Amino acid sequence: MSSITSGNAQQYADSGKLAARARLNRQYTIAETGWFPWVARRLPLKPGDRVLDIGCGPAWFWASVMKDAPEGLHLTLADQSSGMVAEAVERCRALPFASVTGREADATALPLDDGSFEAVIAMHMLYHVADQPAALAEMSRVLKPGGTLAVTTNGAGNMREIYQLTTVFGSPPADPAGEAFGYDKAEALMRAVFGNVAFFQHPAMMKITEPEDVFLALTSYPPGDRAGEPELAAFREAIARAFERGGGVLEAAKETGLFLSRKET
Ligand SMILES: C[S@@+](CC[C@H](N)C(=O)[O-])C[C@H]1O[C@@H](n2cnc3c(N)ncnc32)[C@H](O)[C@@H]1O
Repeated sequence: MSSITSGNAQQYADSGKLAARARLNRQYTIAETGWFPWVARRLPLKPGDRVLDIGCGPAWFWASVMKDAPEGLHLTLADQSSGMVAEAVERCRALPFASVTGREADATALPLDDGSFEAVIAMHMLYHVADQPAALAEMSRVLKPGGTLAVTTNGAGNMREIYQLTTVFGSPPADPAGEAFGYDKAEALMRAVFGNVAFFQHPAMMKITEPEDVFLALTSYPPGDRAGEPELAAFREAIARAFERGGGVLEAAKETGLFLSRKET
């Protein structure tokens, strides 16, 4: 089992560690439209739809896009972390949904009826799942015919300039999310289950001006979060050199994409 599919109970007990990475993305991404609103605009949601958000995390997505969402959505927030479900439900109950339900659930064995949702959303979570085909089959099962599955993930080249610095931890010079469930895999597995898939890449790049924010984000998960002092010092040194080369700025390409599949009627 790779480090990205194990140890998630500790990683996602609450939203603290995720927040360090979200901060890096939020503060330094340059894009005409931010990630969450960009995704929301491409979701074919209609008033009154029943929506499952699996691997919902703290539901920052909904807090960010709710003002533009269709009216009367019935939202089910599911995650294998009970801490995340509690935070997500608390956040979304304060928003104008028709109903909000929380479920502690594993994506590969959803405790939900067949055909019970018009849309299933799985954002940046399938790279944590060891049996991705099983999870996609479950998402298809709970969708009603004609319903849409929306999946987001990173490409293997995402933030390459930053991941190259993590080789001091013995990590490959690539985004572990993109390695575990990158663009090619998402496309192939979704096509295998649904027979169709459309792909959209968020046009964005990063311009980071504060070295410490790179350090905090990349030491928020394995193996950086358990590195010893000599490795951490080498990591700080590698970050400092990268900022020097860029004249005080670290620029990084982003590969973050959305895949949509429609269940046959
Ligand atoms: C990177 S966070 C993404 C959170 C949110 N979807 C977003 O995009 O902001 C990944 C989430 O997936 C959850 N997760 C990981 N493996 C899971 C599984 N097998 N079943 C359900 N949730 C899982 C984690 O607990 C975590 O909350």
